[in-house]
Amino acid sequence: MIDRILSDERYLEKINRLNEIEKDRIYCKHDLYHFQEVYQILSILSSRRGLDDSKKLSKTMAYFHDIGRADSYDGNHRKSSSDFARILLGEYGISREEIDLICYAIDNHSGRIDVEDAYYYIDNNMVEDGLRDTWAKILRISDQLSRNCYICKANAICKWLEGEKTNENWKQRIC
Ligand SMILES: [Fe+2]
Ligand SMILES: [Fe+2]
Repeated sequence: MIDRILSDERYLEKINRLNEIEKDRIYCKHDLYHFQEVYQILSILSSRRGLDDSKKLSKTMAYFHDIGRADSYDGNHRKSSSDFARILLGEYGISREEIDLICYAIDNHSGRIDVEDAYYYIDNNMVEDGLRDTWAKILRISDQLSRNCYICKANAICKWLEGEKTNENWKQRIC
């Protein structure tokens, strides 16, 4: 299902527009590589928690979470991303419950935490009170840990706080 969406002209048009907007960006980009990295981490974290990911919710969340930056770069990209996801997913026969869960996680994926707190959350397999909040939290963490601050040329001028920056590749800690 998600693979069909990823070849949908409307999705590709947004990816291309986002690539164009960010072509001179020196900070982390929001491209297919980023989405793939987020998906890999999210898939691992959801599996460790025993969450049902048989419908590839992790992939759908990851590949849509920043797509709305094509329309709302400095505005509320969480909302533009989830609005767009809701339209496409509705057309592709995904259930209302799954769409609501995916869009809730996308709507709540912003915000960073101290990176050591993120690894503590992972190492201890922590969860939130509700299923949707657990998905939202692990999407946020996956988003943050997917970034390679330790080799980024813009590290010194990045607005992220020092404690939020990653100091190693997530694969060394999670896999
Ligand atoms: Fe985002
Ligand atoms: Fe992101």
